[in-house]
Amino acid sequence: MKGLILSGGKGTRLRPLTHTSAKQLIPIANKPVLFYAVEAMVDAGIKDIGIIVGETKDEIEEAVGDGSTWGAKIKYILQEEPRGLAHAVLVAKDYLDGEPFVMFLGDNLIKGGIVDFVAEFRKEKPNALILLTPVKNPSEFGVAELIDGRVVRLEEKPKEPKSNLALVGVYIFDKNIMKAASSIKPSLRDELEITDAIQHLIDSGLQVKPHIVKGWWKDTGKLEDILEANRILLEGIEPEIIGKVDEKSKIFGRVRIEKGAEIINSNIRGPAVIGENTKIIDSYIGPFTSVYYNVSITKSEIEHSIILENSTLLEIGSRLEDSLIGKDVTVYKVHTKPKAYKLMLGDHSLVGII
Ligand code: DAU
Repeated sequence: MKGLILSGGKGTRLRPLTHTSAKQLIPIANKPVLFYAVEAMVDAGIKDIGIIVGETKDEIEEAVGDGSTWGAKIKYILQEEPRGLAHAVLVAKDYLDGEPFVMFLGDNLIKGGIVDFVAEFRKEKPNALILLTPVKNPSEFGVAELIDGRVVRLEEKPKEPKSNLALVGVYIFDKNIMKAASSIKPSLRDELEITDAIQHLIDSGLQVKPHIVKGWWKDTGKLEDILEANRILLEGIEPEIIGKVDEKSKIFGRVRIEKGAEIINSNIRGPAVIGENTKIIDSYIGPFTSVYYNVSITKSEIEHSIILENSTLLEIGSRLEDSLIGKDVTVYKVHTKPKAYKLMLGDHSLVGII
């Protein structure tokens, strides 16, 4: 069995971060989302993994490499335009070469992995196995309608959902999906939808089995979902202090301080993680905060946030909360008069001021 991770697409809901970077590389608990998908595949015994890449190809290849870190063999497959999940399957035709495969959306996180799911496919050998989970907002997802435990209908982001069962972004297919994907037409959003391709399997009398996810699952396509995923994963981190903490600083609860990090005259209240070579000076880092590498935080208070690499926060007057700060960002206090905000924000930025 092979693996196919989808890491193309545009990530419009995460602008401005995705103007310059891949959404699948946003770190959750200081690890890029995409790495969790690779690890889930490897844990389930899948070592041959194809990654669909688009315009952020170079950045993804550089971060993930050839897979040897995980004992896997990774191949990159270019999808010139993000024309839909079923289109990505068609683009991977040669790589998949008729083998069954697990398809994993690169911005999805599943706690507990996919070992059971893969075992069920191997045992039952359906033509497709789809993961479903009850959600409060089904119209934001692909939705499945079941009758007597059988999948009868799938709809992509329906206005009036027939059930609360969302399609989780992990699927297992046998070779029949290829013909189905090439038989469907683009949807209203002009994409070849995997939901329509699976519906085509059902309509052709092939077996599509549902598997209900019991654990936690998150599509990290939006800010609040990223912060929630970060919160949940931080709750499970192993506390460890490798970097330096001076005698004036206090560390409470589950906190990981990575190599080369320095905590000076500061309080860190976990769960939190402080990345490599990051400096926290005269500051407070509150629960559910991930600070990535080479960040400098001085005289500031932060809680329930994610700060990406190489950023600087200096003397922020009020506490920063529920925030996602990109790479190489500087936020600082202005001492000169007049007392005014000075902003240089990228397109689609979001700033809440008090
Ligand atoms: O997260 C689960 C949902 O994912 C399912 O419930 C939906 O049925 C499914 O269509 C999908 O919906 P999204 O609208 O959230 O998909 P998104 O455009 O975010 O793409 C998912 C991943 O696939 C993301 O990592 C980008 C990548 N992608 C997307 C497209 C459209 C590609 O690699 N190529 C593409 O052409």
